[in-house]
Amino acid sequence: MRNFLRALRFAWPYRYRVLVSVACAVLAAVFWSLNFTAIYPVLKIIGSGDNLQTWIENTITKTAALIEPSQKKIADLNQEEIKVKLMPPGEARDTLLRKKTAELAQEESKLESARTALYWYQVLKRYIDKIFPIDRFNTLAMVIGLVVLGVAIKGFFEFWQESLVGNVVNLSLYDIRNRFYRKALHLDVNNFSQNGTHELMARFTNDTELLGTGIKTLLGKVVAEPLRALGCVAIACWISWQLTLMFLVLVPFALYILTRVGRSMKRATRRLLERMSTIYKILQESFVGIRIVKAFTNEANERRRFQSATKEYYNKAMLVVNLDALAGPVIEVLGVAAVAGALLVGAHLVLGGGGGTHLGPIRLTDTPLEAESLLQLYALLAAIADPVRKLSSVFTRIQSGFAAADRIFQYLDQQPKVRQNNTGPVLRRHQESIEFRDVCFSYDPGHPILTGIDLTVRHGETIALVGKNGCGKSTMLGLLPRFYDPDHGSVLIDGIDLRVANLRSLRQQVALVTQDTVLFDQTIFNNIAYGNKWSVPEDVERAARQAHAHDIITKLPQGYQTMAGEAGVKLSGGQKQRIAMARALLRDPSILILDEFTSQADAEAEMEVHRILREFMRGRTTFVITHRLNTLEIADRIVVLDAGRIVAVGTHAELLQSCGVYQRLHEAQFQRLAA
Ligand SMILES: Nc1ncnc2c1ncn2[C@@H]1O[C@H](COP(=O)(O)OP(=O)(O)O)[C@@H](O)[C@H]1O
Ligand SMILES: [Mg+2]
Repeated sequence: MRNFLRALRFAWPYRYRVLVSVACAVLAAVFWSLNFTAIYPVLKIIGSGDNLQTWIENTITKTAALIEPSQKKIADLNQEEIKVKLMPPGEARDTLLRKKTAELAQEESKLESARTALYWYQVLKRYIDKIFPIDRFNTLAMVIGLVVLGVAIKGFFEFWQESLVGNVVNLSLYDIRNRFYRKALHLDVNNFSQNGTHELMARFTNDTELLGTGIKTLLGKVVAEPLRALGCVAIACWISWQLTLMFLVLVPFALYILTRVGRSMKRATRRLLERMSTIYKILQESFVGIRIVKAFTNEANERRRFQSATKEYYNKAMLVVNLDALAGPVIEVLGVAAVAGALLVGAHLVLGGGGGTHLGPIRLTDTPLEAESLLQLYALLAAIADPVRKLSSVFTRIQSGFAAADRIFQYLDQQPKVRQNNTGPVLRRHQESIEFRDVCFSYDPGHPILTGIDLTVRHGETIALVGKNGCGKSTMLGLLPRFYDPDHGSVLIDGIDLRVANLRSLRQQVALVTQDTVLFDQTIFNNIAYGNKWSVPEDVERAARQAHAHDIITKLPQGYQTMAGEAGVKLSGGQKQRIAMARALLRDPSILILDEFTSQADAEAEMEVHRILREFMRGRTTFVITHRLNTLEIADRIVVLDAGRIVAVGTHAELLQSCGVYQRLHEAQFQRLAA
């Protein structure tokens, strides 16, 4: 609920459109309910032999005839009251006086209403005389024509209302999506690896859509339908408020049922959306890993997994459909029962039961009800059924919107642990040292990944990180661009704790080349210039040459302007890596992180890469994660990690001498190369 209201705030900038749409809804409701009043004249014209002119004249005479006797009665009552006042004081006099005063008040109100009615009938007569033809058929045709015109005008306003609401909703969704995306980009890196991207995908597409439906229902139907019902109720009240009230007692009951259904709906929708996330997950996994799926001929298993997910989605969807479908008929039965009740009572009055005005002891109307009025009333009450039925789905839709809003805001409310620190000290090109000071880190509390890491790296050094898979090498270097912060201890660059440094300036110092190279679906040029908006072609080409990617790129159909999406399939892993390398070189970082980036390069390419590296590493601090001997040789120092701890630091020769872990790693590597 709260989150849905927050989502509604996105519609605030467009409030004037909402206001206009409400005005349109009011006008549409007015014309809609007015159309039903045509029944009365139609019945009159067809039922009695009169045309409208004679009918209004008769009515005026009848009403006027009420006035004189009423006045006389009031005069009599006044006389009697005076007499009673003259009686000796006491219990009897007081009772009589009260009775007379009550009678007088009643008669006076009767006179008053007769006078008002007479006035309005006279006004009506003036219009009837002016507008309607004498001929009965022509009059009827005219009334019908007016109804058609009324429907057209109503339709016009309805169109504008819906269009405006749709406009506001889509603009709001546009804002919500963009705000959400902005937020998502700032979430912690771990968030993505822990929750998977499918959750976010589902929230961006499915949930947002459902939230939109909720808002649209609220601004559209919730405004328009009650107004329509209200219009009918108002006119029905004018005919007989007592009978209308009898009809309306069922409203709270209906509301109760609807809220119950709505609550189940919210729960059902939440489950439905969760299932959708699962479907996204399976789709993503199997499509991204399509080669693996095929190579392991696992299509049937994937199909079954998908089928079971869609089956569950189907079950939840059916629950939602049934709840949605249930509300309508329940409300309709209630509505018809209420109309039937009111109709029965009305018929009782029309047929002369209870003196035409009373149901048992309860007075229902001042004057006996005409058959035409009753039918008119019935038509109006029946007409209410339509907006009410439409309102029944409103509850469920809005509840779905609630569920979706909860899921979206759950993300929007997440505060990234890694803050931007826009006001923090700005890191310049690092000059002195990078220091890991007693760093401990864990992804999940209780499962430490890094423990007591102490390491000081001088500016310009090349550090190689070695260790078994999963010992925490990537995790350790992820601390440098602050993908996450240490739980204990700190990482300092030139003496500045990264936690307080300006994050943007920090990341500008660091370039990262990883094992799995990501090329974005843009031109190769833009992929190299990624993150360096103002690079000129010469710079990009120089970087590409340095990374030995220039020859590869010029062989592509459109050279630097080839889209990476098309080129992606034509490039080998090693070739892609060189483009990624060019991207890093162009950024001219003072700290370079290479995470198993040569793992895809063949021996020859590796040699080349090393040549580039040697050149490029000058004046920068470089961290390489690798198992390759050649790479280890260009490192100034090698850091051996085991189970999240640094077990030894030294040169290749030193470590071979003294470090058991390193020896074993080296042997394994050597055996692999020999094999
Ligand atoms: N995002 C993550 N969430 C939870 N655990 C993780 C995450 N990334 C890595 N790990 C765990 O942390 C340990 C170290 O991983 P990593 O630093 O990638 O190892 P290496 O790069 O040395 O092979 C592994 O046991 C891995 O399972
Ligand atoms: Mg790794």
